[in-house]
Amino acid sequence: MAELSFSGLGKSFDGTPALDAVSATIRSGEFVALLGPSGCGKTTLLRLTAGFERPSAGSISLGGRVMADAHRFVPPEAREIGIVFQSYALWPHMSVAGNVAYPLEVRRLPRAEREARVAEALALTGLSDLAARMPAQLSGGQRQRVALARCLVFEPRAMLLDEPLANLDLALRASMQEVFRMFHRRTGATMVYVTHDQTEALALADRIAVMEGGRIRQFAAPEVLYSQPADCFVAGFVGEGAVVSARPTGEATAQGTTVEVLGQRIAARADSAAPSHVSIRPENVILSDAGPMRGIVTQATYLGGRFRLSIEVAGETLIAMSPRRARPGETLGVEIRDPWAFRDPDSAALMARVLADA
Ligand SMILES: Nc1ncnc2c1ncn2[C@@H]1O[C@H](COP(=O)(O)OP(=O)(O)OP(=O)(O)O)[C@@H](O)[C@H]1O
Ligand SMILES: [Mg+2]
Repeated sequence: MAELSFSGLGKSFDGTPALDAVSATIRSGEFVALLGPSGCGKTTLLRLTAGFERPSAGSISLGGRVMADAHRFVPPEAREIGIVFQSYALWPHMSVAGNVAYPLEVRRLPRAEREARVAEALALTGLSDLAARMPAQLSGGQRQRVALARCLVFEPRAMLLDEPLANLDLALRASMQEVFRMFHRRTGATMVYVTHDQTEALALADRIAVMEGGRIRQFAAPEVLYSQPADCFVAGFVGEGAVVSARPTGEATAQGTTVEVLGQRIAARADSAAPSHVSIRPENVILSDAGPMRGIVTQATYLGGRFRLSIEVAGETLIAMSPRRARPGETLGVEIRDPWAFRDPDSAALMARVLADA
């Protein structure tokens, strides 16, 4: 397994950038998810890594060796990278065992070793009993496991998975997530997993790169993305809650700073002395008659054991969890406690432009 790194990586199609100055290092054996809306460049990043496309700028290295830059281009078959796509792309005329053995035949491995490795890959993916079946005789989840086995049989240095579960139903997706997790634990493979399902990314990955508009907005552990988002996009895209503009008061506290939010002066966690926004998660919204603000319930949904409330406070909609039912139209006391305050670089740029125009 090997470390995978991108440096200033860019890709344009007909002059339009699909990837823009992507720099990141994925550690050897790490499970990384690429998460982002449709068209943000996830598949493009995988295709460049696999060698199906050439970068327009920057470089890609695997295990300390340059795979692609302005001078060098290692072809896909020499990169030793495994790829699993959303459509399984199995050979229809070959059995399960035949499909899994194929990458080893291409690499001209001796027959005995080939058979041993195929048996091992089938066992690891729970397919030993299905070795003689044809792809048409398999369920979607079984086919996806064959694709996975075919990938791991040649012991790739890194594995790229592009929405491998998108075609499966919910229950199967959950059990396949378990297969991926087990597979990763047992092989220690460096894995890059594309999804636009954030629950999948949060559940599976060591770290998540949140992408938007061809750029990585934040690359961090799931709990860091949730509790300390770097900008408004990440705060709004990952997890529930509200993103509200804030005015710094310049007063530092042990945890961060105080900010003015919705007309209140509030202590916030922060790593910036001049935040522009706060991320208010449901657990930062305390409902109590003693709360300094008044909010009006606009929606109440029972989640089993608790209610999810949308509450309008000073023109913003906050999300809160409540053990008791509340009716739309009801007024509740609200306190915002310990939100995360951050400086959104785009809003800072916007501010600078507004000031320059004025
Ligand atoms: N071969 C191509 N020619 C022209 N434009 C392309 C090509 N491949 C990708 N693009 C464009 O590059 C951008 C990024 O596409 P990409 O497929 O990487 O997005 P994605 O994040 O994988 O989206 P999705 O979640 O929908 O799969 C899009 O605007 C897309 O239209
Ligand atoms: Mg894609």
